[in-house]
Parts: sequence; structure tokens; C-alpha cells
Amino acid sequence: MTTRKTVVTALAMAGFAAATGAHAQVSYKEMADAMHAVMEADRTVYTRMVVNRLQNEEKVIKATEHFKDDKSLPLPAQMFRFGAEMVAEKKMPFSYSLQSLWPINKQNLPKTALEKKGLDAVAKDNTKPFYGEETLGKTKYFTAIYADKAIAPACVSCHNDHKDTPKKDFKLGQTMGGVVIRIPMK
Ligand code: HEC
Repeated sequence: MTTRKTVVTALAMAGFAAATGAHAQVSYKEMADAMHAVMEADRTVYTRMVVNRLQNEEKVIKATEHFKDDKSLPLPAQMFRFGAEMVAEKKMPFSYSLQSLWPINKQNLPKTALEKKGLDAVAKDNTKPFYGEETLGKTKYFTAIYADKAIAPACVSCHNDHKDTPKKDFKLGQTMGGVVIRIPMK
């Protein structure tokens, strides 16, 4: 599988870039990894510093699905989706979503064979991402899937207690689903 657009990155690493004036290009994998690092950081900060602290520790306010009516906090998954929707509105070429093999919301089940394969892979081993290529319509995509782990007690308690969950034995640190990032290939 070729994930690099060019070999320029390798040359840059070897210190040739400055000498030749070549521009280092980012590979699909590096781009997906960088996007995911930002998404994961935002998601973890929101869950730990806002939801887990105010709901589970201080018991000040809850995070609920109908947060407008309830005057509560949006769920971490909703925060994530609002961001993804805003990016989609900007007509950026890439897209991202939060999915699971055991979703509370069935809309978050994998839709392509590669998504299913990737979610299976990160559920079995959440120490490394899954990378693949898939053709949807006429476009070929680089698709990366990262384990979405239970990083705070709030993740586990809310999912295990939710009326629509098909799985009630999530534990802290376990894979609960995956972040899917899809980038069209040139
Ligand atoms: C207060 C409840 C609550 C908390 C806290 C919470 N979730 Fe969720 N989560 C939900 C609900 C409800 C959904 C479905 C949202 C939707 O309609 O898409 C969801 C969606 C998800 C999904 C998409 C698959 C699915 O189940 O529909 C994943 C993966 C996920 N959450 C993982 C996590 C992780 C990891 C954490 C902690 C960082 C977390 N959740 C915290 C309630 C919660």
C-alpha cells in the first residue's frame, strides 16, 4: 500500500531538502494522524475538564442528549459531531465521524466494509490505528481509524447505563468505538 504521495519526505528527513530546495510533502497517513491528534485532544479535554468534572465529580450539571431543553451540557459525541458538521459545511475534501460496533445510536454503526474491518482491528488492539484505502463512487479514499477509548469514568457510566446501549460492560481504558477519517486521494 502506498501512503506517500512522494518520496520527498524521506529526502527531507535525510537532510536533502535544504540542500536541494525541495518541499517536504505530507503523506495521507501523516495528515490523518495530525488531524486525529487535534480531535482526540479536544475530545479528551471536553470530557475530562467539562463533563466528567461537572457531572461526575462536582455533580453540578449533567450532559444529556436534549441539552437545549434540559439546559444541560452537550454529550461528548454531540460536540464531536457538531465540529464534523461544521467542517463538512466548509466543503473541505476530508470528512470524519465517530462510530462503534456497539453504538447507542445505530446511525453510528460502520457503513463500509473497510470501516467495519478498521473498527474490529482497533477493538482488538487499541495501541495502533488502522489504515486502508477504499473506493466509494468514483473516488478513492485513504481511510484511517483510531480507537476511541474510555478515557474518563463518565464515558463508561453513561454508556453502560444508557437504555439503548447494546453493551453494558465497558471498562475504563477500553475501546468503545473509533474515529474514522477519510481523505480523498489524488
Ligand atoms: C452523558 C452520557 C455520555 C457520555 C459522558 C459519553 N457518551 Fe458517548 N454517547 C452517548 C450517546 C447518547 C451517544 C449517541 C449520540 C448520537 O446520537 O450520536 C454516544 C455516542 C458515542 C459513540 C458513537 C457510537 C454510539 O455509541 O452511538 C462513541 C464511540 C462514544 N459515544 C464513546 C464515548 C467515549 C469514549 C466517551 C468518553 C470520552 C463518551 N462516549 C462519553 C452518551 C455519552
